[in-house]
Formats: sequence, structure tokens, C-alpha cells
Amino acid sequence: MKDSWEALAQECRSCRECSLCETRKNVVFGVGSQNAEVLFIGEGPGANEDEQGVPFVGRAGKLLDDMLAIIGLTREQVYIANIVKCRPPDNRDPLGVEQDACIGYLRRQVALLRPKIIVCLGRIAAMRIIREDFKISREHGQWFQKAGVEVMAIYHPAALLRDPRRRPEAFDDLKGLQAKINELCEHTRAE
Ligand code: URA
Repeated sequence: MKDSWEALAQECRSCRECSLCETRKNVVFGVGSQNAEVLFIGEGPGANEDEQGVPFVGRAGKLLDDMLAIIGLTREQVYIANIVKCRPPDNRDPLGVEQDACIGYLRRQVALLRPKIIVCLGRIAAMRIIREDFKISREHGQWFQKAGVEVMAIYHPAALLRDPRRRPEAFDDLKGLQAKINELCEHTRAE
């Protein structure tokens, strides 16, 4: 049967495939345009996201909005999701088993969206989407092709909050993203 955003969101919201369901307040499915050409993927919800059921709403989320604004985008023009959709306790990295249990939902989101560009936010997403041994400090800003989709990783906004010295590199990566969007996207302009 043909998949739909509604069916997928509903399944996700009642998911009990891993133990994160026992501690979550809300499933954080994703936000943005269902016609977005650019998909941003973070690692997993934090406390604020768990509280509100929306990705990137805490301090890191504010910075992500600022990063989008640098290249003339708003979160309504893109789509934002995570590798795992429920909060790992104490903000630890999501475990391999949790990622394995959840990744099918992200795959279905990608199949519905059919983005032209995927941007991994940070190491965890890049290791899952690009390559298991991805090195964010060496390979951020580089382009990879995955099943016909252009994929890159940039520093996670939370990492930029922790270490502002990385901001100039993140700025360069955003400029690279802007150029790629304007080259490949049909209805998304980044100016
Ligand atoms: N960090 C993430 O990786 N995802 C969120 O949704 C919020 C913070």
C-alpha cells in the first residue's frame, strides 16, 4: 500500500520498538514542508524537544534557525528530522539498537519527501547516513552522493555552542550548501 505522511506519523507516535518509548513525553516526528527539497537530520530530541514534540526548539534549535537565516532560509522551507524520534535519557548519544529500531521511519520520511539535498547535523547523523567511520572534524562541508541524493555534514549547532571557534568553518559549509541549493533545487532559493 502507498505510504502517507499521516500513516507514518501515526505509527511513529504509537511506536514501542525500543526502550526510549518508556521515558519519552512526546515522539518528535519532524517539522517543515512536505515539499521541501532540503532535509536536515539531527541525532535525537533533547529535553525541550521531548517536552514540545518538535525538533530543534532549544538553544541549539535557535542557533539552527540563525544558521538557516544566514543562507536566507526558514524552517518552513526545509524539513527537519532526527535519527531517533524519542529522547535518549540524560541527552546521551542514541545507542545502535535504538538507531536500528528507528531508522526505518526516517527512511520512509526520505521516500515521501524525495529531497535533493540532505544535511547531516553532526557526527551521529553523519555516521549513520554517510559512513560509519565518518570524521566530522575532517569531512564536514564535503559532498557525498547517496542513492542519487547530495549529502553533506555540518557541525551540530550544539557543538558550535560548546566550541564557537568552529563557527567560521560552519559558515563556509553553509555557503557551500547555499551554492548547492541554488544549483540543484527547483523551488528553493537560498539568498
Ligand atoms: N539536537 C538534535 O540532534 N535534535 C534535536 O531535535 C534537538 C537537538
